[in-house]
Amino acid sequence: MINIIGPGRVGKTLFNCFKKKNISIKLFSKDDDKSNISGIVIITTQDEKIKNVWTEIKNYNIEAVGHCSGILDSNFFGDIPHFSMHPNFPFSSPLKCDALKNIVWGIEGNSKGIEYAKNLIDILDGKYVIIPQNKKVLYHLAAVIASNFSYGLIKMSKVLYNEIEIDNINHLIDLSIISLNNIKEKGLKGALTGPVSRNDLYTINKEREEFNKIFGNVEVYDFFIDLLYKIKEDE
Ligand SMILES: NC(=O)c1ccc[n+]([C@@H]2O[C@H](COP(=O)([O-])OP(=O)(O)OC[C@H]3O[C@@H](n4cnc5c(N)ncnc54)[C@H](OP(=O)(O)O)[C@@H]3O)[C@@H](O)[C@H]2O)c1
Repeated sequence: MINIIGPGRVGKTLFNCFKKKNISIKLFSKDDDKSNISGIVIITTQDEKIKNVWTEIKNYNIEAVGHCSGILDSNFFGDIPHFSMHPNFPFSSPLKCDALKNIVWGIEGNSKGIEYAKNLIDILDGKYVIIPQNKKVLYHLAAVIASNFSYGLIKMSKVLYNEIEIDNINHLIDLSIISLNNIKEKGLKGALTGPVSRNDLYTINKEREEFNKIFGNVEVYDFFIDLLYKIKEDE
């Protein structure tokens, strides 16, 4: 029996999916009596409520316990088989089971807990990467950089286009998507284009001046140019 505690976007999606796969499953909300819980528990409340839920249920008949947070690890569950299984996917609402197919889950836990997480992810037709138990923040930061920081980059392009009074930036977003797909296909070094790949110092310096005028610093520009040179030199 799998028990999902927290009927939100992730919890309801997991519930839908395990149910579709004919796994016996229960979904618990805040007001439900949890004292008859037995089996595997996945806590899908907001991150800050996970430990309180665990305090509430830890003396019940629980076989293994996990949660879906990207940043919390699962040490605090103690000796019981425990895990965290974090989906690398944005859930803006509860989804149908098909949406979970091939999602990559970041998992960590004790050795028995990791086996539970792997089995659950197999049932969901997902894939996984294993995170060392005290490295969850680094794991999550990588996701934040790959997903959220790209918003910051697009915002910077938009600021520059505002300067030249062009409103529509969709073609820049398309350029970004093509570049990301190239990275997937050819790797960072193989996909690299632009002034750094040509070692075009004139362009790099002219654009550095403009960057400074518009954004008021050169540190960010220099940091990125340096990273691009590291890619070019394959460090
Ligand atoms: N959403 C995403 O894209 C995403 C992606 C990856 C990982 N995650 C992780 O998945 C977990 C759930 O996120 P979410 O976005 O699904 O959150 P959510 O939509 O806010 O859902 C949380 C649910 O838990 C309920 N809840 C709170 N306290 C409870 C309790 N004591 N007992 C039972 N239910 C309780 C909430 O009810 P109330 O609304 O009444 O408080 C709500 O229905 C988090 O750890 C999050 O970090 C989320």
